[in-house]
Amino acid sequence: MSIIRLPGLVDAHVHLREPGYEYKEDFASGTMAALAGGVTMVLDMPNTNPPTSTPERLADKARRAAAKAVCDVGLFVGATNTEGDAYLPVAERACGLKIYVSDTFGSLRIDTLELMHRLFRSWAEKAAQVGYRMDGAARGVGPITVHAEELMLPVCLALSHLYRVPLHIAHVSRRSEIELIRAAKERGVFVTCEATPHHLFLSTDDLPRLGARGDMRPRLATPDDVAALWEHLEAIDIFATDHAPHTLAEKGVGVNELPAAPPPGVPGLETMLPLLLTAVHDGLLDLDDIVTRCVDNPRRVYGLPAQPDTWIEVDVDSVYELTNADLKTKAGWTPFAGQRVHGRVERVVLRGETVYAQGEVLAMQGRGRVLFQGE
Ligand code: DOR
Ligand code: ZN
Repeated sequence: MSIIRLPGLVDAHVHLREPGYEYKEDFASGTMAALAGGVTMVLDMPNTNPPTSTPERLADKARRAAAKAVCDVGLFVGATNTEGDAYLPVAERACGLKIYVSDTFGSLRIDTLELMHRLFRSWAEKAAQVGYRMDGAARGVGPITVHAEELMLPVCLALSHLYRVPLHIAHVSRRSEIELIRAAKERGVFVTCEATPHHLFLSTDDLPRLGARGDMRPRLATPDDVAALWEHLEAIDIFATDHAPHTLAEKGVGVNELPAAPPPGVPGLETMLPLLLTAVHDGLLDLDDIVTRCVDNPRRVYGLPAQPDTWIEVDVDSVYELTNADLKTKAGWTPFAGQRVHGRVERVVLRGETVYAQGEVLAMQGRGRVLFQGE
């Protein structure tokens, strides 16, 4: 047994599904899964039902999270075709603005360049009044985070450049995309990006084995795309899970009648750290690469507060197989089931209190804080 101590991880991209899809996940089950994965802060996406697109809905979501979360939670607002930038009055209470311009789950996809101009312009105007958030301050707004694949990526880079808005690219998966982002960074464009464990450790070669368990957006990419992410690791600011729980029945696994439109997405909160530590064991990463991308950079990109007296203890000698049965997510499955990994989260301490130990969540619901809600 060899225990190391790391800071609590930040997962800057999760879908905790509340309100509207609580049977897939809720703030209690999702944040319990986070602690089990060594994650003490999550940033929750707005594609719930209803979506987090207005001040009232953000306030409602914050109340729900405050009552149930066992780790800290930041909340994104989202732009919609129908409500546009209705979130603007409470932009400072969100960790950032999420805009979807590519195929996704839910109703948040933006269809027109005209609306995209408006969304970037109004965010820039808000930032001109309140600034961009630094170091967890109450004041200021976060970046615009986009789900922008393929040809939509240069569209977002151009808008970010035009309106001088910091842009974060969610879940980069292709060689063409990471090469473009890297070139943009080298020319001084204010852009950051993230990659998920499933895009780093799985490819189209795994699809025959995984079937619907390997379906997400962006889709799994080719082995050459995966190789490109590793080649350009320096350009990847953040590792984030895109934890996107759906039930196996919804994905058409183990049911007689295949669903017409199985929802894309895979759970990831509980498997990210063991997979990354296995990459350290295999010599692909070092521990600093993990801390930089799962703690320091998410804080810098989103201006998140530090979590004092907060750490995780990991047994890096523990070798075991990931299983569905051990998971706390309501979805109850992982595309990595059966994989041997190195590194087990033994204990999680949040603000001085042991909130997780030896497989059990010890925190009371409501122990987590919701970021940026004022008071
Ligand atoms: O695979 C995905 N699942 N990609 C998305 O863009 C959305 C997410 C979800 O919410 O299920
Ligand atoms: Zn997502």
